[in-house]
Amino acid sequence: MILGLHHVGIAVEDLEAATERYRRTLGIEPSHRERIEDQGVDEVLFDVGDSSIQLLGALGPDTPVGTFLGTRGPGLHHVAYAVDDVAASLERLHEEGVRLVDPVPRRGSRGTTIAFVHPGGMDGVLVELVQTG
Ligand code: CO
Repeated sequence: MILGLHHVGIAVEDLEAATERYRRTLGIEPSHRERIEDQGVDEVLFDVGDSSIQLLGALGPDTPVGTFLGTRGPGLHHVAYAVDDVAASLERLHEEGVRLVDPVPRRGSRGTTIAFVHPGGMDGVLVELVQTG
């Protein structure tokens, strides 16, 4: 089911400033940038080895990341695992009684298929499942 760690999502107040900070402090360059309107988010990806760091900026205070920033401030937002089949993973988690944010898979950035699992069943960490290709 789990193929690896796909990316770590970090919520930031100022995406441009955070991107510059990551460039300078870690000496890495952004590999991808995308606006995902239906999630109300701008993302910048940095590839680090086989996985990525995903900086997330909110498009408004009422978006999921905007709400997160408003209540908890910037920081770790979610951990994303690469899986071979998101739909099958969701089915399995549902059978295990794990609370899901997305009962069915949806479109993610870079042509991926994704789904979120509620932090309540995952020791307080929002989990994303990512299927590529
Ligand atoms: Co993500």
